[in-house]
Amino acid sequence: MTVITCIDDLKRLHRRRAPKMFYDYCESGSYTEQTFRENSSDFAELRLRQKVAVDMSGRTTESTMIGERVAMPVALAPVGMAGMQSADGEIKAARAAEAFGVPFTLSTMSICSIEDIAEHTSRPFWFQLYVMKDEEFVAGAIERARKAGCSALVLTLDLQILGQRHKDIKNDLTAPPRLTLKNLMNLATRPRWCLGMAGTGRHTFRNIVGHARGVDSLNSLMSWTNEQFDPQLDWAKIARIRDAWGGKLILKGILDEDDARRAADFGADAILVSNHGGRQLDGALSTIRMLPRIVRAVGDRTEVFLDSGIRSGQDILKALALGARGTFIGRSYIYGLGAMGQAGVAKALEILHKELDTTMALCGERSVGALGRHNLLIPADFESRYS
Ligand code: GLV
Repeated sequence: MTVITCIDDLKRLHRRRAPKMFYDYCESGSYTEQTFRENSSDFAELRLRQKVAVDMSGRTTESTMIGERVAMPVALAPVGMAGMQSADGEIKAARAAEAFGVPFTLSTMSICSIEDIAEHTSRPFWFQLYVMKDEEFVAGAIERARKAGCSALVLTLDLQILGQRHKDIKNDLTAPPRLTLKNLMNLATRPRWCLGMAGTGRHTFRNIVGHARGVDSLNSLMSWTNEQFDPQLDWAKIARIRDAWGGKLILKGILDEDDARRAADFGADAILVSNHGGRQLDGALSTIRMLPRIVRAVGDRTEVFLDSGIRSGQDILKALALGARGTFIGRSYIYGLGAMGQAGVAKALEILHKELDTTMALCGERSVGALGRHNLLIPADFESRYS
């Protein structure tokens, strides 16, 4: 039995236990995967300042994100098809997040529906919306999120057109997998996954099937995206969505200072600095490298969150020290989900929390709110290398 001590251990188990096409879907960036790689490797360029002889007792990682109390400033990011990594995956992840005291965000492209999550949790969750051409579908999704008691809408702005991930095409990615000889041979080596899937009826995109007109079966995320996502999404449309929702709004996919300023002027409750985990614009800079400029651009007019590349509590600390109010994790919890279901997501959160807390203590800090640039050693050209 493997002793699990870090996120990488969960990743190895995920790879062994989930069907190849779903592990690959998670572990992909677009095109050359440069941005995907640099999202993580750029964190390693930042170093930490060790401080000694400070009282480390009474530490806390508690904070708030858009006014909600969080056990640590880490939300679960929306991830497409999480319910294919493990049966009922989104329900499992949402329950683990609730038990830990951090927000869970449900993707539009999830397997479990908004209603499924509401039925199996009691803490309000956040709903991520993709803007589709079908306005009735969008209005319906907003209404469903409201009815389910969602406490924030996370509007994704960086995926109106899908960046190509080569592996998804080579694997012929669908949910559920087509029963071809190649897939059957792979599934035969994943008995735990098959058993789980046999025990649930949730096998396809339940936020869409039965909710979008004319869609009574849908198994390819790629074809749906290409046909349905609205390429005309602009600030005027974003404003219409904000008005229709009327609640807390997080704008996801901001990676540019001008866009960040615009989002702050617009009155977003938070912006999520993101390059979609390196899955969209390959060649974009990593989020951690862009973060300082964006923080400077918006000041405290809106909360700044960051995702893409976080694999440890040390990474979380670095993002907070550079001015993020909170972070989102995607792959770091999906590895746990694919490895061990709900217990795996709980394990991922525990690992990150312990790493964050220990690192904070060794940096001589007792609360996440006290973290700042003074905790970092930053290469002289970290920001200026690209201008
Ligand atoms: C969808 O959001 C994806 O990145 O695949």
